[in-house]
Amino acid sequence: MQRLNGKTTAEEIRAELKTAVASRKQKGMKIPHLAAVLVGNDGGSMSYVGAKVKACDEIGFNSSLIRFEDTLTEQELLNKVEELNQDEEIDGFIVQLPLPKHINETKITDHISPNKDVDGFHPMNLGNMLLNLPGFLPATPAGIMELLKRNKIETSGKHCVVLGRSNIVGTPLSIMLSRNSNPGNCTVTLAHSRTQNLKELCLQADILIAAIGKPEFVTKDMVKDDAVIIDVGTTRVSDSSRERGWRLVGDVNFAEVAPKTSYITPVPGGVGPMTIASLMMNTLKAMELNGK
Ligand code: GUN
Repeated sequence: MQRLNGKTTAEEIRAELKTAVASRKQKGMKIPHLAAVLVGNDGGSMSYVGAKVKACDEIGFNSSLIRFEDTLTEQELLNKVEELNQDEEIDGFIVQLPLPKHINETKITDHISPNKDVDGFHPMNLGNMLLNLPGFLPATPAGIMELLKRNKIETSGKHCVVLGRSNIVGTPLSIMLSRNSNPGNCTVTLAHSRTQNLKELCLQADILIAAIGKPEFVTKDMVKDDAVIIDVGTTRVSDSSRERGWRLVGDVNFAEVAPKTSYITPVPGGVGPMTIASLMMNTLKAMELNGK
């Protein structure tokens, strides 16, 4: 078993970005500027957005964190999105999800300019992804693809089972893995809550990707010997032995599954840092695409 260490791979990417930014700075060119909009006080969202801003600082990107109370109206948020669309200084921005129930998430993401949509959630970017045309890829699936690529994990011809069909992870990842590319060329099964014989299906997976948000859902009896396991889960479970009172748990029971695998991502330190790294890559790309 080898750990697929997203933290190390993400550090490598951040170092490359840092060099690219330093070189731009030296030439007097624009520095990438990412804005992040956070609505409300959800602990998970606050720490994800905090990590994105921290990554910007480390690389040398400019960043703006824009915070609102969860009483913000949908129209007020649309107005902010419009303002960011027009703001020449901002190269890319994200609106952290989930949003409060009274705000229609689709309406918000659809209003983000596709050229600044570094999360890759806009229908135009998702459509371009489907057609293998240039655009922004969603950060988590793109981060997983980059992790596979940089760690030279063979995907061609492999059977990949993706657990979870979310718009952010499972559905786009199933498309990206099945494309004629490297990584890619997988035979993909997208499994979900209505899938029958899930255990038998998972046992056929050369590559198993768990993105269902159910802590320790994948157990050793579901995993084939020498499979590659990618764990996208990040559920906070209470843990009185920790000072902060909780710990992050993935969708895979790491302790019992890891010994059976060829590669496995830990939680934390696996997919999470790669998501942030690919958001940073998208932000640099946004600036370049917009001719700056
Ligand atoms: N919520 C969970 N993951 C993400 C993400 O990648 N981007 C945004 N904006 N919100 C999220």
